[in-house]
Amino acid sequence: MEEIKKVFDESIQGSALILEPSADGKKKLYIESYGCQMNFSDSEIVASILADNGFNTTKNIEEADVVFVNTCSIREKAELTVRNRLKSFNKYKKQKPEMIIGVLGCMAERVKSQLLDEEKLVDIVVGPDAYRDLPNLINQADEGKKAVNVILSKEETYADISPVRLLSNGVTAFISITRGCDNMCTFCVVPFTRGRERSRNPESILNEAKDLFERGYREVTLLGQNVDSYLWYGQEGLKKEYETLTAEEKTKCVNFAQLMEQVALISPLLRVRFSTSHPKDITDEFLHVMAKYDNICNYIHLPFQSGNSRILELMNRGYTSEWYKQRVDAIKRIVPDVALSADIIAGFCSETEEEHQDTLALMEYVKFDYGYMFSYSERPNTLAQRKLKDDVPEDVKKRRLAEIITLQNKHSLERNQGYVGKTFQVLVEGVSKKSADELQGRTPQNTVAVFPKEHYNIGDYVNIHIHSCTGGTLIGKAV
Ligand code: SAH
Ligand code: SF4
Ligand code: F3S
Repeated sequence: MEEIKKVFDESIQGSALILEPSADGKKKLYIESYGCQMNFSDSEIVASILADNGFNTTKNIEEADVVFVNTCSIREKAELTVRNRLKSFNKYKKQKPEMIIGVLGCMAERVKSQLLDEEKLVDIVVGPDAYRDLPNLINQADEGKKAVNVILSKEETYADISPVRLLSNGVTAFISITRGCDNMCTFCVVPFTRGRERSRNPESILNEAKDLFERGYREVTLLGQNVDSYLWYGQEGLKKEYETLTAEEKTKCVNFAQLMEQVALISPLLRVRFSTSHPKDITDEFLHVMAKYDNICNYIHLPFQSGNSRILELMNRGYTSEWYKQRVDAIKRIVPDVALSADIIAGFCSETEEEHQDTLALMEYVKFDYGYMFSYSERPNTLAQRKLKDDVPEDVKKRRLAEIITLQNKHSLERNQGYVGKTFQVLVEGVSKKSADELQGRTPQNTVAVFPKEHYNIGDYVNIHIHSCTGGTLIGKAV
């Protein structure tokens, strides 16, 4: 499924999300999402909250009473995309002045009420922890008052809200397991836009996964900015380190490895994925759980950002290049058929040519299946913006990024060529984009495979023998 591979790329157009219509819904909501999987998952929570308040969703913006854009702030370009999109709403608002336009998500949190002045047609600004307040904010806006709630929470995990599945193929779904992030990587806005880290009650996660499985879903992806630091200690609240837990909290505690095992045990027919893993926190205990259960997919998204330890320290990533390599060695030893992908930043503050070469060298060492590659974009109020100089010239950043992309394309093709001649279990997710006579799904390693439809259906597990490939897709036949 391409979405999974594109999720961190805010440059893709946001998509209109369609809600299964409920009979009594009178008002209509149009919602568009940008940014990461977390935002897509949040839009499902928003749709669920509004469904309880008499809203149906529509894919037709002209007939919407409320138009929401769930926004991303991760790079400057992400925010520009949203601002352009908001401007394009002008024509609809002219035709229908009572239409309410709301900015949700990370950009709402970063720019806050200032957005109301900057983007005149915006009526509502709501941060990621305030979605329960939406019905109230819509009422305020209906009365002609601009409405803002950007309060970040120490507890909110929306654990009790069962998300409405939007744009769903009925086979794969996301489940958020943590919110926020405590890591404070110096380049990153997420700790400011999504607040402090909180882990969600494991029982509510398991119930959601079980419910999805019973409804025919065959794959869940557990989501968090750093899934490895998931830690439930018996109550909702800010993240604590294991060492600081009381004796009582320790008896109730569930870590990521334990949570994964419980989700995997729901059924061998339910595939389990997870994102994002953090090199400083991924444990051998977790890798052994991964190796033990066939239904935990052998794929890890393990961003490294830079292959140079001085730059990693400036980024406050909490590991060195050597440490990263050792984690990759452990992963390949414990989970032999694993596929890896990474996020990489080109041209971070003060990065020299040699340090950039270290990034290419680390890519050569690991040979990732896939990469999400970015040039550094300075974000207001981050530690890097306050303390470091964004001094790598734009053309140098671009050239370094191009070198990283070229190398990654070569590795992606090599990795896919290595899969030719092998057979993989593919979970069918839909009809191939190129031909109605072909189906597509993903291997456990997360590579898209297409094959002739024959008598197979969406939601089936099919063993596919791979006979050829491109850099992005495996081509095969059912055996
Ligand atoms: N929590 C995840 C990353 C979330 S943001 C993690 O720690 O791995 C997704 C990716 O966007 C990051 O991994 C990073 O590669 C990129 N990114 C974040 N801030 C950026 C910035 N200011 N400029 C360029 N890329 C950035
Ligand atoms: Fe941002 Fe770092 Fe947290 Fe990832 S771990 S969301 S890069 S602060
Ligand atoms: Fe973007 Fe916020 Fe996700 S900044 S990447 S939508 S957490």
